[in-house]
Amino acid sequence: MSLMELKDVSVTFDAEQRKGQKVRALVGLNLKIEPGEIVAVVGESGCGKTTLGKVLVDIYQPTEGQALYNGKDLRSLTKEEYRKYRLGVQMIHQDSYAALNPNRTIFQSLSLPLLQHKLVKNKDEAWGLLSELFEEIGLNPARLFLEKYPHQLSGGQRQRILLARALSVRPSLIVADEPVSMVDVSLRISLLDLMARANKKYGISFVYITHDLGTARYIAQHGRIAVMYLGRMVELNQIQAALDKPAHPYFHALIAAVPEADPTLRGGKIAQLPLKSFDMPSVINAPPGCKFHPRCPYANERCGTEEPKLREFRGGLVACHLVETI
Ligand SMILES: Nc1ncnc2c1ncn2[C@@H]1O[C@H](COP(=O)(O)OP(=O)(O)OP(=O)(O)O)[C@@H](O)[C@H]1O
Ligand SMILES: [Mg+2]
Repeated sequence: MSLMELKDVSVTFDAEQRKGQKVRALVGLNLKIEPGEIVAVVGESGCGKTTLGKVLVDIYQPTEGQALYNGKDLRSLTKEEYRKYRLGVQMIHQDSYAALNPNRTIFQSLSLPLLQHKLVKNKDEAWGLLSELFEEIGLNPARLFLEKYPHQLSGGQRQRILLARALSVRPSLIVADEPVSMVDVSLRISLLDLMARANKKYGISFVYITHDLGTARYIAQHGRIAVMYLGRMVELNQIQAALDKPAHPYFHALIAAVPEADPTLRGGKIAQLPLKSFDMPSVINAPPGCKFHPRCPYANERCGTEEPKLREFRGGLVACHLVETI
């Protein structure tokens, strides 16, 4: 049984600026997350990555479809099962400032769930557990950080604190939304290593959300990658196979656009793909047919009218009518 599963999940919002219009942030998304695995979710800004993450932690509810935890719809969990789920599935938010209560010290914020859920006996024990975690993730000396308020910390320090908060309750899944985007390059690798260690040592599954393919490959070396475009999943495969031989033209273009300076990714193997346009269509007025067809150099008439479904191809899944011929 999968640890978590999204079944035909769509999420539709009312457009913030344009009254009466709808934003289809996720459309018919299917994804299974197995115990102990790492899944990287990639795609450009606005493609629905954060929305997917927030559905996994039940901040957003599917407009259509279901989110399941250990095979059970979140809406049909008993109170006790729901409590276990909320503890078991943690999110590291992209906006680290909004994720922390500005009126509480870091210790007050982070000790609360530990005490509430009786993961520690008292405040002293909470202090000990958190200090140890903080030192492990490079927040030294821990006391200095535990006593601070969120606004007294840098974005990178807050991101690390959110990682500590997520790890402190020993969850079975962590949804990490751009968790190292604000961390200095020198610290990035050590934080990714920390997540990889938590994955190996405690079997914690990760959904690693990013627009950065380099860090995705680094953390999900043995995991899978899901590629999103305008709210749809367009490719899903083992990350090594997918990066070496991307199937969807959009993913191909995304990899080819990574600067040559990142040899871990390109190795010069992936040729540039001449896109017809650099603009991403808006989610409010998505084009008919394949959402990528206006930019795709291979697109034909069918691509402009019929939306491709995800189907099996070379051991993975891809949503492209022409993948066999390109
Ligand atoms: N609460 C909301 N109300 C209205 N629209 C929303 C809401 N949340 C997200 N959206 C819209 O849904 C779409 C997907 O947003 P989402 O934040 O999931 O994208 P993302 O892939 O995380 O982008 P980024 O890489 O910039 O973080 C966007 O068009 C966004 O404007
Ligand atoms: Mg986001």
